[in-house]
Amino acid sequence: MTIRLCVFDAYGTLFDVDAAARAAADEPGRDALAGCWQDLSRDWRAKQLEYSWLRAIMGTHRDFWGVTQDGLDWALEAHDLAGDADLRQRLLSLYWQLSAFPEAPATLTALKSAGLQTAILSNGSPAMLDGAVASAGLSGTLDAVLSVETVGVFKPAAQVYDMVDARFGIASSEVLFVSSNGWDVCAAAGYGFDTAWVNRAGKPMDRLPAAPHHVLADLTPIPEIARA
Ligand code: LAC
Repeated sequence: MTIRLCVFDAYGTLFDVDAAARAAADEPGRDALAGCWQDLSRDWRAKQLEYSWLRAIMGTHRDFWGVTQDGLDWALEAHDLAGDADLRQRLLSLYWQLSAFPEAPATLTALKSAGLQTAILSNGSPAMLDGAVASAGLSGTLDAVLSVETVGVFKPAAQVYDMVDARFGIASSEVLFVSSNGWDVCAAAGYGFDTAWVNRAGKPMDRLPAAPHHVLADLTPIPEIARA
């Protein structure tokens, strides 16, 4: 089946979620963070996702900006940094301008040049996504930025993947869904999308009912896969 639309997860796939803690750790006066920023960033991300899944199961939705703050507060306390209000504020402000992975702009541009449509489908709230897309200079290469706030539940609920058909009216078999999150790409494969897992960290495959069709080290092969 010909691919007509490439849909990207945002955080961890197009945008580097470690960029906020890495940048803050480089700033003067951040010695405590400099010693633990990788662990803090990992814990922040893990709690952010955990809270998104738990809230989906419990039916207690709070937008992604809310669970991002809750996850950060847990991680700061776990690393004895809960008293540093300035650091908390700085990390949250950096999260609105996360850098894109280096190959992301060229990947999106190549897809547009090949005549494909492109979109983001993300847990992120609309304002967060607008901030990240604008600060990474990706606005001109995306046909749509879809936020789960439209349906009020997080991925991997099927209602979120339904948003692609609702917006584009394209059969799921003509959609290539791209995510760095194993759980997201497995759910999208089970939903019926063609799928590519961007496994930058070389993690094991998640043990879930469906598996991704392609496994990549970064985004570079996406245009070739989409045109094949
Ligand atoms: C997103 C999260 C899952 O962008 O990374 O949807």
